[in-house]
Amino acid sequence: MRQHRIVLLPGDGIGPEITAVAKLLLDAAGEQHGFKLNFEQHPIGGVAIDASGSPLPASTLEACQASDAVLLAAIGSPRFDALPREQRPETGLLSLRAGLKLFANLRPVTILPALIDASSLKANVIKGVDLMVVRELTGGIYFGQPKGRIEADGDERAFNTMTYSRTEVDRIAKVAFDLARDRSGKLCSIDKANVLDVSQLWRDRVDALAANYGDVELSHMYVDNAAMQLVRNPRQFDVLLTGNLFGDILSDEAAMLTGSIGMLPSASLGSEGPGLFEPVHGSAPDIAGQDLANPMAMVLCAAMMLRIGLKENDAATALEGSVERVLAAGFRTGDLMSEGCTQLGCAGMGEQLLQAL
Ligand code: IPM
Ligand code: MN
Repeated sequence: MRQHRIVLLPGDGIGPEITAVAKLLLDAAGEQHGFKLNFEQHPIGGVAIDASGSPLPASTLEACQASDAVLLAAIGSPRFDALPREQRPETGLLSLRAGLKLFANLRPVTILPALIDASSLKANVIKGVDLMVVRELTGGIYFGQPKGRIEADGDERAFNTMTYSRTEVDRIAKVAFDLARDRSGKLCSIDKANVLDVSQLWRDRVDALAANYGDVELSHMYVDNAAMQLVRNPRQFDVLLTGNLFGDILSDEAAMLTGSIGMLPSASLGSEGPGLFEPVHGSAPDIAGQDLANPMAMVLCAAMMLRIGLKENDAATALEGSVERVLAAGFRTGDLMSEGCTQLGCAGMGEQLLQAL
């Protein structure tokens, strides 16, 4: 029987609840499709700070490095807002992405027919949307040096550096071009080249690479315009290529096309080693432990992990099918609730998903 080593990182807030649902479904999918997943669970984020003082203990990173794939739920809690930045939960996630060299973050946004009315946008605007945000994940202003806070001239100043090298742009652009080639052949690169030097390099490199992709239709868009176009006419997009910060912002915006950020999975990949599969949403501390969370983004992450990380395509399709069937049957978590539907908690949604598998 095929065996895969999976590291589960439930993390903070709603993380443990949605991880339990994903694990249930993954075990069942393995049984149905002839493979076994060997799970190991490790702390990251706030729970790791509580246990060991570090948001990413060395043992967690080492276990991830030795795995076939990593499934992370969510990190973060307002309890740690007062800590120095290097001791906060978010630093654990950023260090994990950097430690596994996961420079490519894929965030697919598709509108499921059953959720067409769950969005705050009109059905005729979002119908048929199927796009992919390709976000650079280990560079840009998130990691650029120098950064810090200084006292200067009787004032206080804080700064970060938005920086990209040719190599960094080329490798993420290549991921986006290859994806565009496999999809509809359309790629839109998002930058702020009318103002930022770092964006001009970004644009120059994307243009240079386009020479190798004669079959891909490339366009460029300024990030402010892209933010507007995403809600004005999202169907114009297929693959969107962006840097770290712009991608963070635009992917939350794109999530709302689907009705809830609770529906969006993502895959973070490097050029070798295990991928990290994590929902786009956060740890939702306000609803944690109340059985209110939507586990579907996490289940869709598990599906991405099966397809991209483990090459278990049939099981991946089965998990996605189960999400679609449960929604079509009218089951909803609170974030997606609309008239005539049946509201379920996180665990109840997990049971329905399992039955529908
Ligand atoms: C995301 C999150 C993270 C990010 C935070 C939690 C560090 O918002 O994955 O989109 O900004 O990348
Ligand atoms: Mn984000």
